Amino acid sequence: MMELAGKRVLIAGGASGIGAAAAAAFREAGASTAIYDIAFQKERIADGHLQLPADLSDSDAVADAFERLRRHWDGLDILINNAGVELVAGLEETTEAAWDRIMDVNLKSVFLCCKAALPMLRASRGCIVNTASQLAFVGAGSFTAYTASKAAVVNFTRSLALETAADGVRVNCICPGAVDTPLLRRQFEGKRGPQGTIGDLIAMHPLGRLGRPEEIASCILFLSSPLASFVTGSAMLADGGYTIH
Ligand SMILES: NC(=O)c1ccc[n+]([C@@H]2O[C@H](COP(=O)([O-])OP(=O)(O)OC[C@H]3O[C@@H](n4cnc5c(N)ncnc54)[C@H](O)[C@@H]3O)[C@@H](O)[C@H]2O)c1
Repeated sequence: MMELAGKRVLIAGGASGIGAAAAAAFREAGASTAIYDIAFQKERIADGHLQLPADLSDSDAVADAFERLRRHWDGLDILINNAGVELVAGLEETTEAAWDRIMDVNLKSVFLCCKAALPMLRASRGCIVNTASQLAFVGAGSFTAYTASKAAVVNFTRSLALETAADGVRVNCICPGAVDTPLLRRQFEGKRGPQGTIGDLIAMHPLGRLGRPEEIASCILFLSSPLASFVTGSAMLADGGYTIH
């Protein structure tokens, strides 16, 4: 039903968590995947799928990564911008370097990858899904830089959707609630996270549990598929009800 077989899908930030689950789901649907991630040591093809090391916050590294991608594929159908890092710090403890890192990884990488991919996506009438967060819509103490970066991804998505609609390129974002991934677990290592303990965080989700990476992946696949052919500029919440009240 998703009609993703044969599609060329680039997942930026796909070595772990939500991105890795999305890559597996796309492959299961018959798509070819290429994954960019800072965690990879070297370029390699695993089971016919491409892995490319890249620091996506760096414009030279992104240019190089797209150059290497073009050696394998002559086009692109779907771009998933999923790389992200968290910062748990009160504003007065947030250094300029830490602020820049959050913005560079969570926001600038989206700009850089969209810019590099757009000519190919215009040619294929493809689509983009950016990973934002439910925290794009509500505040979270000691999470100021992170929430600001994710709110920016939402409006970046809306404006780019307007810019590309005439060429048939759809641009959407997925806004997960708390999902059980390494990024989430790091927030609670020996301390309270920005939303308290992990139990407090779970209690803020009316569905009463953390999300699973596969549950976000299925939303990403929906937004990437012809099932969502009339959906663009949207910010799809998959947050277990976190933002209902
Ligand atoms: N887990 C959650 O609760 C949650 C909630 C809302 C939004 N998100 C967002 O979902 C996305 C995926 O997060 P996750 O929870 O799966 O975390 P994760 O840490 O498992 O995955 C993030 C991936 O991004 C990669 N990455 C980080 N910096 C990079 C860089 N400079 N260049 C290239 N790759 C880089 C990491 O190596 C990792 O593979 C992030 O954008 C995150 O902000 C997560």
